[in-house]
Amino acid sequence: MLIAGNWKMYKTPSETEAFCAQFEPPAGVDVVICPPFTSLREAVAGGVTVYAQNVHWEDEGAFTGEVSAPMLLELGVSGAIVGHSERRQHFGETDETVAKRAAHALGAGLGVIACVGESEEERESGVTADVLRRQVAVLEPHDRLVIAYEPVWAIGTGKIATHDQVQEAHALIKSLVDVPVLYGGSCKPDNVEPVFAERDVDGALVGGASLQVESFTAICEAAARIRS
Ligand code: 13P
Repeated sequence: MLIAGNWKMYKTPSETEAFCAQFEPPAGVDVVICPPFTSLREAVAGGVTVYAQNVHWEDEGAFTGEVSAPMLLELGVSGAIVGHSERRQHFGETDETVAKRAAHALGAGLGVIACVGESEEERESGVTADVLRRQVAVLEPHDRLVIAYEPVWAIGTGKIATHDQVQEAHALIKSLVDVPVLYGGSCKPDNVEPVFAERDVDGALVGGASLQVESFTAICEAAARIRS
């Protein structure tokens, strides 16, 4: 099981140091922390496995505001999230740019967590499978690729998907590309166990609950327990 904490736009460098000083990844589970770019150095120094929240598809160039794979690798960063729904919603990310980011990062030696997931309207109109097929189709299989299934309606809403919905989506994704699949969306210590028990769930991408050492540790421990 892999548990990744996506801190989004939270935690300064000093807050990151404080988290890492307190956090000890439990045995029996792989743990990744994804802080903002400005806190990557402190997270790496804190001894955890660190992924960035985005990465560009060129090594360098006139791309104001972007960060490249060689820049991350030199810092000791191990990978990057690509295609998070917040980037698709607010920053114009498309399946094509997600594909370019993922392919370049994997080629450069980084791990990648590529995010997919349907909106509430898409689920209600019955097109979830079509959306997932379209989003996954642009991703090439790779031994450092992980997919995160994050239904947009479950992100930050407290409304976790049911374990049946999660299993169905994960099975579909794995039938398209055979890589580990994480679930993301309102994961909390008291609701993750039924999701973790599903056959095609290989871990979680945790937002809000990854910001406190106690709740993130509890989710990591739940993952370690379920597969021990
Ligand atoms: P929450 O766990 O806060 O719902 O966020 C999920 C997420 O978007 C992780 O990438």
